Amino acid sequence: MTHSSPAAGSFLPVGSWTRPEAVALNRLPMTTFLREGADVLSLDGPWSFTLLDRPGGIVRCGTTVQVPGCWTMQDVGDPPQYTNIQMPFPGPPPHVPDEDPTGVYRRQVEVPADWQGSRVVLQVGGADSVLYVEVDGRAVGMGTDSRLAQEFELTDLVTPGRPCELVLTVVRWSAASYLEDQDHWYHAGLHRSVLLYRTPRVHLADVRAVADRDPETGVGQLTVHATTGEARSEGAQVRVHLDGAPVGRATARWEHRTNVSTNAYRFTGRGATVSAEVPGVEAWSAEHPRLHDLRVELVDADGARLDSVSLRVGFRRVEVRGHELLVNGRAVLIKGVNRHDHDPRGGKTVSRAAMRRDVELMKGHNLNAVRTSHYPNDPYFYDVCDELGMYVVDEANIETHAYLRSLLTSSEWGPAVLERVTRMALRDKNHPCVVMWSLGNESGWAPVLDAAAAWLRAYDPTRPVHYENGYLDGALAGGLTPPQSWRTPRRETDVVPPMYPSIEDLEEWATTVALPERPLIMCEYAHAMNNSGGDLDRYWAAIRRHPDLQGGFVWDWVDQALVQRLPDGTERLAYGGDFGDTPHDGPFCLNGVVAADRTPHPSLLELAHVVQPVGFAWTGGEGVRLTNEHDFTDLADVADVDWAVTVDGEDVAAGTLGRVPVAPGATTDVRVPVPPLRLHGRQVAHLSLRVGAVASWQTELARAQDAEPPAAAAGPGLPTRLALWRAPIDNETYGPRHAERWEQLGLPTAHERVQLRTETEGARVIHEVTVPDGWDDIPRVGVRLGLPPGVVAVDWLGRGPHENYSDRRAGTTVGRWRTAVDDWPVRYVHPQASGNRTGVRWLRFLDADDRVVLTVDDLDDLDVTVSRWTDEELAAAGHLEDLPAREHAYLWIDARHRGVGSGAVGPDVSAPHRIGPGTYRWSYRLR
Ligand code: GAL
Repeated sequence: MTHSSPAAGSFLPVGSWTRPEAVALNRLPMTTFLREGADVLSLDGPWSFTLLDRPGGIVRCGTTVQVPGCWTMQDVGDPPQYTNIQMPFPGPPPHVPDEDPTGVYRRQVEVPADWQGSRVVLQVGGADSVLYVEVDGRAVGMGTDSRLAQEFELTDLVTPGRPCELVLTVVRWSAASYLEDQDHWYHAGLHRSVLLYRTPRVHLADVRAVADRDPETGVGQLTVHATTGEARSEGAQVRVHLDGAPVGRATARWEHRTNVSTNAYRFTGRGATVSAEVPGVEAWSAEHPRLHDLRVELVDADGARLDSVSLRVGFRRVEVRGHELLVNGRAVLIKGVNRHDHDPRGGKTVSRAAMRRDVELMKGHNLNAVRTSHYPNDPYFYDVCDELGMYVVDEANIETHAYLRSLLTSSEWGPAVLERVTRMALRDKNHPCVVMWSLGNESGWAPVLDAAAAWLRAYDPTRPVHYENGYLDGALAGGLTPPQSWRTPRRETDVVPPMYPSIEDLEEWATTVALPERPLIMCEYAHAMNNSGGDLDRYWAAIRRHPDLQGGFVWDWVDQALVQRLPDGTERLAYGGDFGDTPHDGPFCLNGVVAADRTPHPSLLELAHVVQPVGFAWTGGEGVRLTNEHDFTDLADVADVDWAVTVDGEDVAAGTLGRVPVAPGATTDVRVPVPPLRLHGRQVAHLSLRVGAVASWQTELARAQDAEPPAAAAGPGLPTRLALWRAPIDNETYGPRHAERWEQLGLPTAHERVQLRTETEGARVIHEVTVPDGWDDIPRVGVRLGLPPGVVAVDWLGRGPHENYSDRRAGTTVGRWRTAVDDWPVRYVHPQASGNRTGVRWLRFLDADDRVVLTVDDLDDLDVTVSRWTDEELAAAGHLEDLPAREHAYLWIDARHRGVGSGAVGPDVSAPHRIGPGTYRWSYRLR
């Protein structure tokens, strides 16, 4: 090792950050973290920080930063950078830029005096992207993989009770960056906690607890493998207690004692294995996350305690049987989302409260699964998933997207791949929430991935292995397309996890080509980019129709927007390019079903509805069939089943059916005592059912269509203009590039050339327009009206309350709603069309004194938008802050309005939700 100049304050083996094979030096093997309380010394807080322009280079900034924290979020002059597929710097691999921001973190540390005689270990929770460690100027070690903790033994380098200087140097760009080419913000720094911990010299180095449970008999089988540390205590025993009661013991081993030649075949390794049967043990599942306390002790030959650790375990069985992934014997439907560690202020540093909130929000929206895209998430996240109940696909920190099919085929990347996969499993093995291991994302295929999968299967036969990209690689090599390409037998995965498949391909797979021995679980679908989420109901109808389809993970959970402070002191939500980061991929990072501050987007409300665990179907008359989609919970244990009948959104009758027993997976028919209804004019009656906060449903009961309401005084004659365009949503700008095509057709100014025929009959306004041949798939056919000044609120009857489109409205109900004009549109970070409501029958516009200024009624279930911004303004704006403040608002009344789809990377808006040439006629009354 050579040392850089003392000014740099760090040791850096020359060029090691540019070497793919320089994975780690002197790093301890990964274990489950088992220490707590007084055995842990947190080093979180302020650290002195120097930013160099390159390893061992010139000082660019000297300051104090917070740990954990990305320095890219702490104003040190090195901002974050967002790219999707492309690398943030020029290659080719393993080349890294000469200018390579390098952070030197220093801190005086005093190991507690009472740690005298202990073993002392440094744990660095996450260093992006390469970490170098030194103590009092002495080199300790280095390591890569920014999303897993790295540990180094300091026992002989520190003196308890005396201060020492700890220096952690982090290099931003490295060969490892090529393995971390995920679609996300590139940050830098110590983004997870740093701590010291102690263990006794004779200690438990690791514990692996396998808690199996036979779903047929309910008998649990607990197997605890405890690894002993290097120091010996002959005759020591490992004892195991479950929920306080002793369950077994075994003699501890400290390797072979004599020479290798005589013991080569008898070497049993270090540690002890304790097994015990646990009859009648309660199962862990996402529905009932029952955890048990496990205590593992190491005692000496006289029974005196040498060491003891605790962890939580859950008894459950995960297996692939036939085309199903079974949890506790049930083919659970995977109602999942992909999740990045992301905080709008912290970047990759996410607080415990925020992680808990994420899981609570997911559970509150009927989700039961998370894929930790595309790297092991913060360790606390798994604790919360264990506790609150989520099925987790744990993904290794591997993505080589820019060099998808080539990088891993070079052998120098092999050690890093194996380290990343095995260390993830060694860290997370004890979490009942982890139901599958994933080898990573979008890294093509290479033999080392087969090797990694083989290691996982041998080390941990209790969980299947997941990897998507082998299918893509196989398809490209074999010229196959989905669903045929999913048939290729792949060694690196136990499930078929396609990305953004069309519903048609899924149906074809399920009905004609499915491989019986592989479940199909979409690793990504429904590209939730800003205004999006079309056809979620059709996906879930297909999933429920075919046992060969088992759900999937929506892309993705949270908008990766970052809070940026502007020179004038104000803040805005930023995306790629906003920090001057180049190259960048603009707003492509805004794909969340929740906003960066975790406000649910309408796509999450839709998702919550289509995956809800209770199904309803009208069987005619007063009959409704209830389906209980829970796997382990009777419907009677959830909540009462309540009903209501509304006429034009007003309640006319309501009642409860009380607790309705329906076994998991079963259906039952109930009778709802609907009162006789007398409807007039164009009234519509609906029946709604609700089961607590878990599920709701609405169906149209009856509709009167006898007479036209009487004509009223002539309308106020608001300026009206034809609208055939909308500010493109991101799912039509990217991918199918409709935005460009609509521009070429001249849709934004079509009102100047296409004739809108308007007649009035009293207060009734009737429009007719002919969309010319060749204008296939346009965004809307409607009119835009200027609303009178002073309008501040809207009262309406139609689908709501939130934004909905013809292909994303299953989660809405027909009702009477009210909202402020300012709250009608959704504030997507990247401005675009938003706020449509379908099925609208009337609207009333109110002023600040709640007086009705304008009534628009007698609409025939039309699409309506209200906004203070025009489509032109929305399309021109880069950020919400660019939009003008305006006194008056506009109203769009559309005969048809395009769906939202998933087009940027998935299926475009499906045929029934597109608008083509033809003559359209629609009407309403203005009063
Ligand atoms: C997938 C990828 C995700 C994300 C998404 C598009 O191909 O796995 O990380 O890039 O596309 O938003």
